[in-house]
Amino acid sequence: MMTAQEIRAQFLDFFRSKQHKIVPSAPIVNKDDPTLMFTNAGMNQFKDLFLGNQVPDARRIADTQKCLRVSGKHNDLEEVGLDGTHHTMFEMLGNWSIGDYFKEEAIGWSWELLTEVYKLPKDRIYATVFGGDDADGLPADEEAKEIWKKYLPEDHILYFDRKDNFWEMGETGPCGPCSEIHIDMRSDEERKSKSGAELVNMDDPMVVEIWNNVFIQFNRKADRSLEELPEQHVDTGMGFERLCMILQGKTATYDTDIFSPFIKYIEKQSGKTYTHSYDPKNKVDIAMRVVSDHIRAVAFAIADGQIPGNTGAGYVIRRILRRAVRYYYSFLDIKDPFLHTLIPMLSDEFAQVFPELDLQREQVAKVIEGEEIAFLNTLENGLRRFESLSVEDNQIKGADAFELYDTYGFPIDLTRLIATEKGYTVDDKGFEAALAEQKARSRADAQKEVGDWQIINDGEEVEFVGYDTLELKDAKVLKYRTVKVKKKDQFQLVLSQTPFYGESGGQVGDKGALWIGEEKVSVIDTKKENELTVHIVNRLPADMTAEVKGFVDAKTRHATENNHTATHLMHAALHQVLGGHALQKGQNVDHKRLRFDFSHFQPVGAEELQEIEEIVNQKVRENIALEEDRTMPIDEAKAAGATMLFGEKYGDLVRMITFDANYSREL
Ligand code: SER
Repeated sequence: MMTAQEIRAQFLDFFRSKQHKIVPSAPIVNKDDPTLMFTNAGMNQFKDLFLGNQVPDARRIADTQKCLRVSGKHNDLEEVGLDGTHHTMFEMLGNWSIGDYFKEEAIGWSWELLTEVYKLPKDRIYATVFGGDDADGLPADEEAKEIWKKYLPEDHILYFDRKDNFWEMGETGPCGPCSEIHIDMRSDEERKSKSGAELVNMDDPMVVEIWNNVFIQFNRKADRSLEELPEQHVDTGMGFERLCMILQGKTATYDTDIFSPFIKYIEKQSGKTYTHSYDPKNKVDIAMRVVSDHIRAVAFAIADGQIPGNTGAGYVIRRILRRAVRYYYSFLDIKDPFLHTLIPMLSDEFAQVFPELDLQREQVAKVIEGEEIAFLNTLENGLRRFESLSVEDNQIKGADAFELYDTYGFPIDLTRLIATEKGYTVDDKGFEAALAEQKARSRADAQKEVGDWQIINDGEEVEFVGYDTLELKDAKVLKYRTVKVKKKDQFQLVLSQTPFYGESGGQVGDKGALWIGEEKVSVIDTKKENELTVHIVNRLPADMTAEVKGFVDAKTRHATENNHTATHLMHAALHQVLGGHALQKGQNVDHKRLRFDFSHFQPVGAEELQEIEEIVNQKVRENIALEEDRTMPIDEAKAAGATMLFGEKYGDLVRMITFDANYSREL
């Protein structure tokens, strides 16, 4: 039997042999894209390449990507555990063409890999193609069908509509028709009695999709229209766990060698037996699948810098973690923190593929254990409170669901889950109302409506000149858009070049002024959106085509830079005093102050703190000059001992900042 490690390696080797550059997985937590909390597909990190906002350094790319589909457009959380194929975190094997090859090669290579390398039987393979869509004015993808006809008989090529065969990353962004590959795993007898073609896309557990080939050609805009992209791209994604299931002759991903060691461990620790049952009443089996699945999402999100918390992405991770705790507590009779004990096994399994977990295994385990202890403290009381609720018409009241959430830390989906087990529903509207009331009390949550970009000049890549100058000359507006914040209009500009630093890496964005023609507009803030620098201005000038000049507010930028330098000096001091594990987890630097988050096992003691302060003050007094290497190959920076952070996506060329080669070196 081929192991999961071998299957993954063969995929990457195959595409390497087709001149693809193999790149590391991007972090599972998405920090640079306001439209997406977590990486939900292999193509996310290439979004800007597809849109033409960034110039590729390779046109053929392949990798295995950590993905999470638990929020937004793609959400599988409630399914996980019930069946044998859904997961929170999964790996997506993918190959990409950035304006290079298209349908012919993409389809041909999928066929070659599946049938010649993995040796899947050809007669079990079905392909689907896009059947067209009237609303979007798109014809059926006859081209893909013709290509498939070289490999498959016609009755194995099926048309499906936009729901299945037009892939979109989110509400906006790159998209296009796709062609999926499905495998029929049924016995020969069953296959004779009913054609697999009838079961494709019918949720049959034995006829499953494994690979999606998307032919990216459009950008979906906020007004729902489709804009044709200047180049055509390929984005493919193959579910690694499912591929292993098929190649290992299993009928559930949980039976592959990716999960079975974990299920065995959970069996041993709980003294219960896994029976491969998908009966919704068999809570022991469900709990074992939930625990073996959820630990992966939680551990890798934390390793990539997302600490569980009360809002946003942090709350998604906390919800997953609490769902797992409740399952082992109620159905595996495990009453002590347990999830964190799976970390050593998980770290070992992925040490070669996603080393970020292995390198932080102790810290990640500590964070998880802390979360488990906190939730176990309230879980029992919360469950008791649940039992005592007065339930009318088999429905949990909104106010009660809110109390469980607010006082006992039950995420609403956990309350819903327990309610379902008892045959109740939850008054979701009542819960939302109670929650909204609390939110309104604590802060008026700004509603944002983001308009489409209006193009003024065709965009080349935007050049950031702000390391060398704070003055802008001879620039032009590339595009602008209107954003409504709290019902007020705000305007955003992208310029052909800019000295304005967009908020990133924890440093606030620059403020300043622009002259567009004769008109002055103030830059209130500057943000980054993926690779774009977006200037937020108070008004739009009459003539958007006029020449743009401007200045960054130098005093503020300078004070901010000083504070940013201080974070480097402090980071190095933390390593000296507390140890190399005390890595930066976040920072927030402006012209008045700095905040610096880092990982450590316990609060920093008074003496340690004093030592850190003394080192930093001494370094400040030494007045060390800043050394900058602006474009250094990443490997050279590593060899020079630069501090690398987990959960950061570094390019091939990095900017290295040194304050005394023996003291502080950061990217
Ligand atoms: N983006 C497509 C998907 O996620 C193919 O990678 O299915």
